[in-house]
Amino acid sequence: MGLSKRRSRHDRFYRRARQQGYRARAVFKLEEIDQKFSLIDKGARVLDLGCAPGSWLQYCSRRAGRKGVLVGVDRHELAEPIARARLVIGDIYDLSADDLLGDVDAFDVVLSDMAPDTTGIRHVDQARSEALFERALDIAEATLAPGGNFVGKLFQGPEFSALIQRCRRQFDAVKIIKPEGSRTRSIEQYVVARGYQPK
Ligand SMILES: C[S@@+](CC[C@H](N)C(=O)[O-])C[C@H]1O[C@@H](n2cnc3c(N)ncnc32)[C@H](O)[C@@H]1O
Repeated sequence: MGLSKRRSRHDRFYRRARQQGYRARAVFKLEEIDQKFSLIDKGARVLDLGCAPGSWLQYCSRRAGRKGVLVGVDRHELAEPIARARLVIGDIYDLSADDLLGDVDAFDVVLSDMAPDTTGIRHVDQARSEALFERALDIAEATLAPGGNFVGKLFQGPEFSALIQRCRRQFDAVKIIKPEGSRTRSIEQYVVARGYQPK
């Protein structure tokens, strides 16, 4: 695909996000994943790791509805609050499962769109992304209800297969997807793990 065609495709996602009142074009990656795998039901309890600026939380708020429970975590403050979401500001390496659960027993869905600050040095960025994914998976395993779902962003690197194997041991079904809304040049992929079976 030529550069100009790619740009116009990206502009389309950007414009759509604006039109629909979303804070980021990233929302369409989650929308595509959710439409494919039906992850977020009405009333769902959702934890969103790396939630700023908040478009995934906005989408979850619409999908889970008034009875849903939303918790969003990020190192950075959000410019504005999200209706019905509890926001936790901090680094996920410093937060415990209890900090995230608050007064919820467990989550039905744990999402992670966390990305490292990229250096442009491929193996460094991959290693940092893999570490963030692994931390997100630790948190998912500590907070998900049996049968719950996990979605995590991952740059493919040397630990990729081992991380996928770990997901396969703990979940009924694991798929890897690069959504349309993901920029072609980006090495990001999303791991969608459904049906948590704590061992
Ligand atoms: C691509 S953005 C997420 C976009 C979000 N899904 C949305 O739709 O608005 C990734 C976020 O991960 C956060 N992040 C990266 N590392 C983190 C860490 N160690 N702890 C908490 N948040 C982190 C960044 O601050 C950034 O806001």
